[in-house]
Amino acid sequence: MNRISIKYKGPLRGEITTPPDKSISHRAIMFSSLAEGQSIVRNFLRAEDPLRTLEAFKQMGIEINESPQPSALSSRNNEIIISGKGLNGLTQPKNIIDCGNSGTTMRLLSGVLAGQLFPTSLTGDSSLRSRPMKRVITPLTEMGAVIESENGYPPLRIKGGKLTPISYKSPVASAQVKSAIILAGLYCDGVTMVIEPGKSRDHTERMLKSCGVEIDIKDLAVSVKGIASLKPMEITVPGDLSSAAFFIVAGLLVPQSEILIKNTGINPTRSGLIDILDLMGADIKLENERIVSGEPVADLYVKYSQLKGIDIGCDLILRAIDEFPILCVAAAKAEGTTRITGAKELRVKESDRIASMAAELRKMDVNIEELEDGLIIEGREDLKPAAAISYGDHRIAMSMLIAGLTAAGVTTVDDTDCVSTSFPGFMDMLGSLVA
Ligand code: S3P
Repeated sequence: MNRISIKYKGPLRGEITTPPDKSISHRAIMFSSLAEGQSIVRNFLRAEDPLRTLEAFKQMGIEINESPQPSALSSRNNEIIISGKGLNGLTQPKNIIDCGNSGTTMRLLSGVLAGQLFPTSLTGDSSLRSRPMKRVITPLTEMGAVIESENGYPPLRIKGGKLTPISYKSPVASAQVKSAIILAGLYCDGVTMVIEPGKSRDHTERMLKSCGVEIDIKDLAVSVKGIASLKPMEITVPGDLSSAAFFIVAGLLVPQSEILIKNTGINPTRSGLIDILDLMGADIKLENERIVSGEPVADLYVKYSQLKGIDIGCDLILRAIDEFPILCVAAAKAEGTTRITGAKELRVKESDRIASMAAELRKMDVNIEELEDGLIIEGREDLKPAAAISYGDHRIAMSMLIAGLTAAGVTTVDDTDCVSTSFPGFMDMLGSLVA
């Protein structure tokens, strides 16, 4: 169990390049493995979560070659060559597939496995084993898969087969659920439809379209037509706004900071944080806007700003779902009160992020009221240094490290190994911005 101590040393200045997007890295490996022929994935995120997906497909007989040979230092600009074997080319894994901490691996893979003729078992670490899977079990069972679970929780045993298309009204706005159904829909004769209560991230739709899949999007309804084969792809993974988020907020909160955060994905289904911070009075400029492999990307120029508290509802939160913890840190330092509601999903992430952030920011003397679906946070000028914990949740760990950076004294964060599930070089990148 690792402990990191952090203390303010001066303004953050300079230029960083955002690490590759986690969601897109998972999908690039999955869809390339299911395509017919060789795909090239550049700038893959070599963090624990997407590596779980990569290992899972290797276990199912897919040849995946990395060049240059991976090392901890060469996470960027690497090239992965995947020899896809088609939608029906996977082979039964010899062992249970361990998805580690990764909900995306388990839920998206469930959709793929629902279409396979062989049975497969999926498990994960203690956090993943306490995350709800009924949300994918219900629709995939309706399509014809047989899925055993521990009362709706992992481990899962999935026996796929001939699937029939469904029209499914999902009770949750979740890209993981939507993607699982779309992936199972590829194996159906006919059109499968998912209707969400709110618009979740659309990386699956964008990437599958580039593989030749017919996908129709009408407001909150996404339809996919079953297909015989996917075209291989050549993709460069853009930077992950969810990782850039920690530096955006750090740059806004630490006085006299000025940071250029290059190559950051700004997909509108993900960019809620930028809109929220804009409403709070942040000085963030989008420069060099462009499209990289079908995804919008920009360089973000961030300058220290005095933020003010606002009300944030479910539409904005859905577009900033993974940024909730760092947003709480921004709110804790803003002038006035920030009220976040419509964030119930945060209770079932890698930790209960509503409870985790309330408990940890209270240690820094922040006045917080916990709601069932959010938090009311009273901002204050000075955060008290504290002994924080991560709950084994990477985004809580990084958020509390940034909170610590703005406090007057030394803050410690315990149990920080989890940072490597999404952002292995986090502390080095932060260090590079301090003179
Ligand atoms: C993800 C979707 C989101 C997000 C997660 C990654 C994805 O989860 O929180 O970190 O890659 O599809 P939900 O779909 O459960 O909201």
